[in-house]
Amino acid sequence: MQPMWGRTCPHKWRRQGIIIFRSTQRFTSVKEHKSGSQLSTKHLLGIKYITREDIDLIFRTATKFKEVINRPIKKVPSLRDVTVANVFFENSTRTRISFELAERRLSADVVNFAASSSSVSKGETLLDTVNNLLAMKVDMVVMRHPAPGAHHFLAQHIDANIINAGDGTHEHPTQALLDAYSLIEELGDLEGKNIVIAGDILHSRVALSNIFCLTKLGANVKVCGPPTLIPKHIHSLGVEVEYDIRKALRWCDAANVLRIQLERQDIKYIPSLREYTRYYGINKQMLNELDKKIVIMHPGPINRGVELSSDVADSDQSVILRQVENGVAIRMAVLYLLAGKLG
Ligand code: CP
Repeated sequence: MQPMWGRTCPHKWRRQGIIIFRSTQRFTSVKEHKSGSQLSTKHLLGIKYITREDIDLIFRTATKFKEVINRPIKKVPSLRDVTVANVFFENSTRTRISFELAERRLSADVVNFAASSSSVSKGETLLDTVNNLLAMKVDMVVMRHPAPGAHHFLAQHIDANIINAGDGTHEHPTQALLDAYSLIEELGDLEGKNIVIAGDILHSRVALSNIFCLTKLGANVKVCGPPTLIPKHIHSLGVEVEYDIRKALRWCDAANVLRIQLERQDIKYIPSLREYTRYYGINKQMLNELDKKIVIMHPGPINRGVELSSDVADSDQSVILRQVENGVAIRMAVLYLLAGKLG
């Protein structure tokens, strides 16, 4: 293989293993590819469908990219000539911007598609929409869609790599990866660590992806919330249920707190948000009563004063903005490793 960047490839990238090659394929490569270690899948449809080894590889790669994006020059040419479409059929702040930053920092060409301002409003189907993008030589599709399984459907019909940026109440794999990565930064190896996921478990794709990811990493997982917002068969995923938030907080090393997803609730699952806050809202006094300092996480957006009080969200126990920061490196790693499947 010839070095893709020849004279322009900085020595520091070579030293960090972010060495750029042009092979018979169009992809760029890191050390892991050279040593034969790469993702086991062509798409990232969910954490359920990747292995522990995939997760470890994504984390190792993200650590390299985290170092890169904390330098004055944050860009590497790894995805030059690769075009990524961010196709969002649902609103997003963190995920969409974080994917776009990740793509730009890898030097990919980026197109953004928001369903609300597209021809979807004229009746165009998902498949027609994506096939039209692919006709314009898009290589990878990052998609958020309200329908669980939309990405699986797409994967059966198109060739491009697909990354799930959230499909309804099903999965949000990059969120779970950045959550677990942030937890490892705080707690070290997650084997045997106690993690609570609190809130609206029933409607949360973050909860499901976190359960898959944390259990694959060996953590003990409990979910906590009102009985109406806990799926009936959640035990089958290897997690326990705790309905008392104070007991859950005493048990855990970290709590990932989720908002109530009113937009996905067609019936009333709780009497009112006020009542939810009274029984499940986490405030500083509750944390002060614990005999240890637990890590507080939230995928965002936060409903301040509902699931978390502001003094908890902004406390030194909160890693909420660290999660957002890590999201860019994790998404760079996922894009980069999947691009290895291009061609
Ligand atoms: N955590 C998360 O998915 O946030 P957004 O909906 O803003 O992307």
